[in-house]
Formats: sequence, structure tokens, C-alpha cells
Amino acid sequence: MKVNGALHEIDLEPRVSLLDALRDHLQLTGTKKGCDQGTCGACTVWVEGRRVLACLTLAVVCEGQEVTTIEGIAPDGGLHPMQRAFIEHDAFQCGYCTSGQIMSAVALLDEGNAATDDDIAEHMSGNLCRCAAYPNIRAAIREVRDAGLETSGRG
Ligand code: FES
Ligand code: FES
Repeated sequence: MKVNGALHEIDLEPRVSLLDALRDHLQLTGTKKGCDQGTCGACTVWVEGRRVLACLTLAVVCEGQEVTTIEGIAPDGGLHPMQRAFIEHDAFQCGYCTSGQIMSAVALLDEGNAATDDDIAEHMSGNLCRCAAYPNIRAAIREVRDAGLETSGRG
């Protein structure tokens, strides 16, 4: 599969999740394992431009597909506008949920589901934050939305 623009050929057992393939086989540890059962959103990545939970996605299903992780959303080692906004708005505490939050937040804007705070809350509801940074996360998303920046980069 293609991950962040680079082609990778890996031999995996059929039961290996995309999350474990990314973290353990490709050493892309920016994608976090929270619950490993589809409830926290910490493992959110994009497959073919759509956000998915990597813990619930089998890696073999992604054969030949384009996967994007937090390491791949900004070119040349820079920061994506959403990453900058998260820093500016202090939209995290421990940071464990943050990569998943950012992958969802960028997708949310592309999906056109960020018109109001209620919309943002609803469409980010799959991304839990134990540190309850929700108001700051919404503020970061609002800022990027209102700046009208090109955020996509999704496949
Ligand atoms: S680790 Fe995938 S949803 Fe929690
Ligand atoms: S910043 Fe700690 S879980 Fe979200």
C-alpha cells in the first residue's frame, strides 16, 4: 500500500490491523492505539481520503490503497494549518488523542460539517479526549475554518 505517498510492500497475516501495520511494521507511531476496539478515535487515519479507524480496519483490505497518517498531512516536515491551530489554542493536554483529533478535524472541514459548534461536536464525536480539551479543539477547528485555508491534501 501507499502510505503518505510512499509505496510499501509488507507481508502480513490477514488478521493484522491497519493500526498495527502502521505502528509495528512501518514505525509510524504518530497514530495512537487507545482502546483498540473502535470507541476512542485515537487511531483515525485516512484511507483513500476518507477517515477510518485503523484499529478496526484490516491492513490487507488496504492493499493497493492510499493511506495517510498524521506524519503525512504536512509537506516537507512543516506543520499543517490544523496542527498550528491546535498548538495556538492549546487544544490538548496529554496529547494522546491529538493525532486522531487532527485527522478527523481536517476531514471534517473537507466534508463540510463544521458550520456550527454543534456540527463540529457531532461530527467529532467519535474522537474522545480524556483530558476534555473539547472547547479548545473546537476553537482550533473554527480558526482554520474561518481562515478559509486550503487544508485538504486528502487523496
Ligand atoms: S484505538 Fe481505534 S478507536 Fe480507539
Ligand atoms: S489531550 Fe489527553 S486525551 Fe486528549
